[in-house]
Amino acid sequence: MMLSSRALRYEAGQLLILDQQLLPHEQMWILIENPEQMISVIQALKVRGAPLIGVAAVLSLADWYVKQKPSRADFLKKAEAMRAARPTAINLMNAVDRLTSCSESAIWQTALDIFYEDVELCEQMSLCASEHIADGDGVLTHCNTGGLATVGVGTALGAIQKAWQQGKKIHVYVDETRPLLQGARLTAWELEQMGIPHTLICDNMAGVLMSQGKIQKAFVGTDRIALNGDFANKVGTYSVAVLCHYHKIPFYVVSPSTTVDAHCATGQDIPIEERKDFEVRGVEGSFGSVQWASQGSPVFNPAFDVTPVDLVSGIVIDNISYSQTTLKSGILKEKFKR
Ligand code: MRU
Repeated sequence: MMLSSRALRYEAGQLLILDQQLLPHEQMWILIENPEQMISVIQALKVRGAPLIGVAAVLSLADWYVKQKPSRADFLKKAEAMRAARPTAINLMNAVDRLTSCSESAIWQTALDIFYEDVELCEQMSLCASEHIADGDGVLTHCNTGGLATVGVGTALGAIQKAWQQGKKIHVYVDETRPLLQGARLTAWELEQMGIPHTLICDNMAGVLMSQGKIQKAFVGTDRIALNGDFANKVGTYSVAVLCHYHKIPFYVVSPSTTVDAHCATGQDIPIEERKDFEVRGVEGSFGSVQWASQGSPVFNPAFDVTPVDLVSGIVIDNISYSQTTLKSGILKEKFKR
């Protein structure tokens, strides 16, 4: 049995994850031997990106279940702790719930199904969303939504890759994505490896590029979609959407159906993770640590923000592209409400 993706592998009975905190300078694979270890690498963002978190979580639970044969009560306890590892990415809860609601004999197969489904959904959504990208477009993206955030080609970055493979001559503008720099460290690196022309910018430079006519579309992923079409994504996404609205630039979200939360009516119901103050006072990484702000200054550090459906041109979910008008008609409630 072997599973292979950009940032997660299962080979010779061992689950391995690529430490994304060390990228792009070092590629180190970490052996995950139990769910506690997976929880700690998820919390440290060594494993990150909503779909990847979901897949990694269930593989680690299923691997441990098959090897340790714990009681049902112990398994459910570990699953509950895993479910709480990060609060905003609903893929995590959706995937763990699927694992705990299947029969015990189906636990390993269900984890495998979740892996393969993510690969397939990435193909579907990226192909579908690529139709919104035209030859010659300058495309802005925020955070990292590629092969490092999923076990397939990715969400928004997957669409960008497909458009490039279709021969469209695009140029990608990459928000560095403060505070943890997923754009600068991961997206720019993935684009470099794929040979797709791109320019790295600080988050506060998108506006000037839009005013100069360099950006024709914005594409982002999401960690949770509410039934009214509001969605949460990496903090800074809302600012991109507001800028796009002012400049009349189409703003698209690309997502698998595993990111829809059937229990959230609107974006106000989405819990937003708050992280440690030192991430904003400075930077920490494989390059070392610098704290430039005074310890005495209080910090606000939400990991995500919510963008209202009013600012969205469309959301691609799996192989369907929903326009803002369709989203506002209540289509997600009709399709996903349980
Ligand atoms: O904190 P992160 O790096 O896990 O945040 C990731 C994002 O915000 C992505 O845009 C999101 O998970 C959707 S794309 C796979």
